Amino acid sequence: MPQDSRATACTDGPAAGFGRHGLRRRPDCDCIQPVPSSSPPVRNVLTCHLPDPAATEALGRALAPALRPGMLVTLQGPLGSGKTALVRAMLHALGHQGRVRSPTYTLVEEYQLPQGPVYHFDFYRFATGSEADDAGFREHFDGRALCLVEWPEQAGAWLPPAQLAVRWLPAAEGRTLQLEAHGMALPEGLPGARNG
Ligand SMILES: Nc1ncnc2c1ncn2[C@@H]1O[C@H](COP(=O)(O)OP(=O)(O)OP(=O)(O)O)[C@@H](O)[C@H]1O
Ligand SMILES: [Mg+2]
Repeated sequence: MPQDSRATACTDGPAAGFGRHGLRRRPDCDCIQPVPSSSPPVRNVLTCHLPDPAATEALGRALAPALRPGMLVTLQGPLGSGKTALVRAMLHALGHQGRVRSPTYTLVEEYQLPQGPVYHFDFYRFATGSEADDAGFREHFDGRALCLVEWPEQAGAWLPPAQLAVRWLPAAEGRTLQLEAHGMALPEGLPGARNG
């Protein structure tokens, strides 16, 4: 099999997943694949400490430029943790100029923005995952709209994997959030961010 000119034999032995030359040994064959140095990280985890509501707003504004049509953002945290506050800041930063109401009672609020439709869900009131499915919400997750989902744990197994999962962690003061990005790059310099 022809090899890339940059692919030098790795001497770490067949058991090693990664060679010391930045080369990856495929598990199913013996040839060596170069790993492009510009590959985006597949999974990226950050923790942000947000001392007050203004910091939550700043984080929403900072995250907004990374959001694209078709993405799913899940927001998982206790009652009153700031999920809607974060979404509100994201929507305003994306160009929405009106009010952002909590979808606690309506279950979903829809926004038509220049980038495309955005759906903001709150699944808190669903007791079982099938209720959310029966409500016909699955079709909103067809890869065309940006979906922002509070209480994703109440949706059930049909909810597709999130590109950005936001989780509120226990915090003595303010709020501490974990951001887990899959296949998307988190913006640099997010408010209150530290790795891991
Ligand atoms: N970093 C922060 N520190 C302290 N308070 C905050 C912070 N961020 C948001 N808050 C406050 O927490 C409250 C959260 O309200 P919000 O409605 O956004 O919560 P929620 O998580 O959406 O709740 P629910 O689960 O009921 O939908 C607001 O009063 C907001 O000002
Ligand atoms: Mg809310």
